Amino acid sequence: MYLGIDLGTSAMKCLVMGEEQEIIYSVSSDEIPLSNLRNGWSEQDPESWIVALETCLKKLQLKIDFQQIKSISFSGHMHGATCLNEKNEVIRPCILWNDTRSHQECEEIMRDNSVKDIAGNIAMPGFTAPKVLWLKYNEPENFKSINKVLLPKDFLRFYLTGEFYSDLSDASGTYWLDIAKREWSQKLLDAGSMQISQMPKVCEGTDQTGALKKEIADKYGFSQNCKVYGGAGDNAAAAVGLGLYEEGDSSLSLGTSGVIFGSTKKFLKNYDDAIHSFCHCLPNTWHLMSVMLSCTSNINWFLNAFDSSINEITEQLALSMDSEKIINSAPFYLPYLTGERTPINDPHVRASFHNMGIDTNRSSLIYSLIEGISFGLNDNYLALSKTGIELNNIYVIGGGSKNQYWIKLLASIMNKNLLITEASDAMAAYGAARIAYLGFNNINHDNVLSPPKVKTVIEKDHKLSQMLIDRFSKWKNFYVS
Ligand code: XUL
Repeated sequence: MYLGIDLGTSAMKCLVMGEEQEIIYSVSSDEIPLSNLRNGWSEQDPESWIVALETCLKKLQLKIDFQQIKSISFSGHMHGATCLNEKNEVIRPCILWNDTRSHQECEEIMRDNSVKDIAGNIAMPGFTAPKVLWLKYNEPENFKSINKVLLPKDFLRFYLTGEFYSDLSDASGTYWLDIAKREWSQKLLDAGSMQISQMPKVCEGTDQTGALKKEIADKYGFSQNCKVYGGAGDNAAAAVGLGLYEEGDSSLSLGTSGVIFGSTKKFLKNYDDAIHSFCHCLPNTWHLMSVMLSCTSNINWFLNAFDSSINEITEQLALSMDSEKIINSAPFYLPYLTGERTPINDPHVRASFHNMGIDTNRSSLIYSLIEGISFGLNDNYLALSKTGIELNNIYVIGGGSKNQYWIKLLASIMNKNLLITEASDAMAAYGAARIAYLGFNNINHDNVLSPPKVKTVIEKDHKLSQMLIDRFSKWKNFYVS
């Protein structure tokens, strides 16, 4: 058996897979607390990730004999700066991927224009390097005491094995990595005032990164021979779950962030429209990605602000999608709760409703909330399509993949059939388990990574499509930089 650990922003999922790549059992942790001390800030205490891991492992122990687990790997939310001092203690809370405080530091890093060609991207506040440079100017004592900077899932690896590693897909989101050469770049490290000794070693996702520490194996009842493999950033891990590594293989993730992922066979420099160009976690493969910072977090915001429920949202969406009148009179929503990356790269913008009238009510706000998120995703899709990659077979994953009305709306806007597989909401954890399997058995990914069974194909609705194309062009005018 193989264990995939997926550290999500809102919760952790752990999934056990068998020798036939079948899912045996999966569990989730409680919600992982997020702290937003100031507007645009987003932090988590790494200790809360260990608590989440313990909760998941305790739940798994009730069903699984841990002695049978041959290997472990990880998926995790990307970019977070987890800084450790010389004693390997966490210096301060981790600054997360959706924290936008470091926009000025991005400009400093990009002062030399050539860094973009090495990093394959423009520097955005979500990336790790500008966050750590922010510490240099705002928390100099913390900055001076940094001995290692780890990405979130790599901190879990350190807890389990005592080793410092990061896989290339996750390391791509730091802005310290040479994406074409697949190694740390001295030039980028210099631009971010960092040294190579502060970096973990980089590895392919399927490389071994040590074994469990004896006290950890004993504590949880794992075998002493249980090995630990590199893993991947959450989107690349989910791609392995779906078997996506050929040119144009793609996914649309509806999680806290909204991500469209397209595999590529070579490094494609493409930083227009804030497109991300990263290494894949499998050898000799890369990928392009568009990232919307707030996807389902808009829904969570609405649930809290209006004391609503997922049932209410689903019911209202279904009703509205049947009514031309509601759609045409609904307000417009810009889903930029925490700023935006693709395509506008604007850390300062915030969410807003537009065009509310005397007839605007709770139902039309709900419709426009989901429509606005979907328009944001369509904007991401169009930006990614401009790079010239043909996105085939788009698999929808993440928590939002459970809502077929929403996916119908998306298929109608994007003018694409969208596919839903088994376990679509646990794909990153499944991908992590597959990485553990590939690494342990030393098998090449070709031929063994087939997509999980497609449960549903969601087709566009022609009438809805017509209305939405028209509304999308109006929606585009509400954002002003
Ligand atoms: C990718 C990104 C998010 C996070 C959280 O660049 O920032 O997708 O990985 O899911």
